[in-house]
Amino acid sequence: MSAPSILRRTGIAAALVGCVLALPYAIAEEDAEDLATGARLAELLRSGRNIVSNYQALINDPALGDKHLDSDRFAKEAIAVYSKQTGHDPLSGELTARDRRLLGAQIEAMREVVDEQQDNINREGIAFKGFVPAIFARLMNEKFAARVGNEARVRVTAPEQLVRNRKSLPDDWESRIIESVFSDPNTKKGEVYTEVTELDGRPVFRMLLPEYYTESCLSCHGEPKGEIDVTGYPKEGGKAGDLGGAISIVLFK
Ligand code: HEC
Repeated sequence: MSAPSILRRTGIAAALVGCVLALPYAIAEEDAEDLATGARLAELLRSGRNIVSNYQALINDPALGDKHLDSDRFAKEAIAVYSKQTGHDPLSGELTARDRRLLGAQIEAMREVVDEQQDNINREGIAFKGFVPAIFARLMNEKFAARVGNEARVRVTAPEQLVRNRKSLPDDWESRIIESVFSDPNTKKGEVYTEVTELDGRPVFRMLLPEYYTESCLSCHGEPKGEIDVTGYPKEGGKAGDLGGAISIVLFK
């Protein structure tokens, strides 16, 4: 493996997507652009997950058939959440052509997932549908990769011992950062890690955004460790505040 040309902790909290102007002064213009793009991609993914989370009770209502949660409504609400978080509409404002292309591909990917889930979401007589935020996110990221995978990739991964779905196993780079940076008690919580390195023989900007368990995660990822949760997986024994995973972004140069 070649040595990374840049190795840097950006020191911005994941929530500060709207504030990318407040960057460390040393960051090169091109990297700043990649950082802004990566932050936007992470935020739009989070916005989509947010909608799936907000509507879990509706989705899992066995008494109701049509939930009227189609892809138009879903995308509109996800865009509203994104706009509220960042202060910008994802497809307007000061965006590069690449931003427009990638965020547009994310919205299409999100819509495709929700379209494909309609029968499941609207099934009467079934309570838990298994359409949880993490599944939504993985499917959305897969569809995003099918559209623009030679230009950008978004995944959600986790420390290896926590991974439920093998497709979400961390690669070597992700494992290294999770173990050496995010697990280091001296690393500030929420700090985003970025690096210019190589992937598949191509130069890339990589970005890893840590995610921590909150109380709402613990019905599945909490204690007692090993107990089977509603989705059929053994619980991880996690506690609120523990590192639960990371959003991983790749932008090919
Ligand atoms: C209803 C149960 C449930 C809840 C609540 C839940 N998850 Fe998960 N989580 C899952 C399932 C199921 C998967 C596997 C998804 C798949 O097959 O891709 C998963 C996967 C993940 C992954 C991807 C890596 C992997 O293990 O495959 C991360 C990271 C994650 N969850 C974090 C969280 C966080 C953080 C929260 C709270 C904000 C949360 N989860 C809430 C069930 C849950």
